[in-house]
Amino acid sequence: MKIGVFDSGVGGLTVLKALRDKYKHVDFVYLGDTARVPYGNKSAQTVIRYSLECAEFLMGEGIDLLVVACNSASSYALDSLRESLPIPVFGVIDPGVKKALEITKGKVGVIGTRATISSGVYKRRLEEYGVEVYQKASPLFVPLVEEGMVEGKIAQEIVEYYLKDLKEARVDTLILGCTHYPLLRPLIERYMGDNVKVIDSATVLALEIEPFVKEKGLSYLELNFTDISPNLEFLIELILGEVDKPRLVSLPCKV
Ligand code: DGL
Repeated sequence: MKIGVFDSGVGGLTVLKALRDKYKHVDFVYLGDTARVPYGNKSAQTVIRYSLECAEFLMGEGIDLLVVACNSASSYALDSLRESLPIPVFGVIDPGVKKALEITKGKVGVIGTRATISSGVYKRRLEEYGVEVYQKASPLFVPLVEEGMVEGKIAQEIVEYYLKDLKEARVDTLILGCTHYPLLRPLIERYMGDNVKVIDSATVLALEIEPFVKEKGLSYLELNFTDISPNLEFLIELILGEVDKPRLVSLPCKV
């Protein structure tokens, strides 16, 4: 079986890692649209178009199941992807919401890109269950991680800058609604304190796709990117914990 995973860039490797840790006998094809990252400050129409193009590329690789690792793409493009693809499609929003509903005492914080936060998708889903939701777009976290600055004074100050309001609102659960944020998790947890449970959708998502996964044979991994910058291999190693040669690809762009 072959699982396709796509993201706007490298961040989705955090989701790929969780999937590979759980499913050791499945082939994975990853696509990072590094030439067009970030998706997080683009319009809904553009995110949908880019997502359909990523999916088309992965379908051409013969995938049996698609995981949309990007929160911004999951927020805007999941319905369009499900309508146009003949295979199961999973995003990262529902798993995060499900986990939050399981553990919250009633006040949930959500952080993500501007696109994810302004889509309001986490807020709407959680509020349906009577949960109080506090959101905060935290766009600087993405470049921080991409610079490898996941600890130290600057990272700490930016964490405090974005999370101050959520801490003051006394949220009891915090959803990391962006692929890159799990790398800042130690700092975020330290700042929010022991009483706040931090959720990263990837592990819940890995469990959710279980009924659709058929494991057999050895696992093969293919890493595709639409741009290969000088620090790409550093980031792959930072997130996956192993070096794998990225392949440069171009997408079947419609416009
Ligand atoms: N992958 C994006 C997300 O999870 C973050 C980076 C971007 O803005 O494209 O929303």
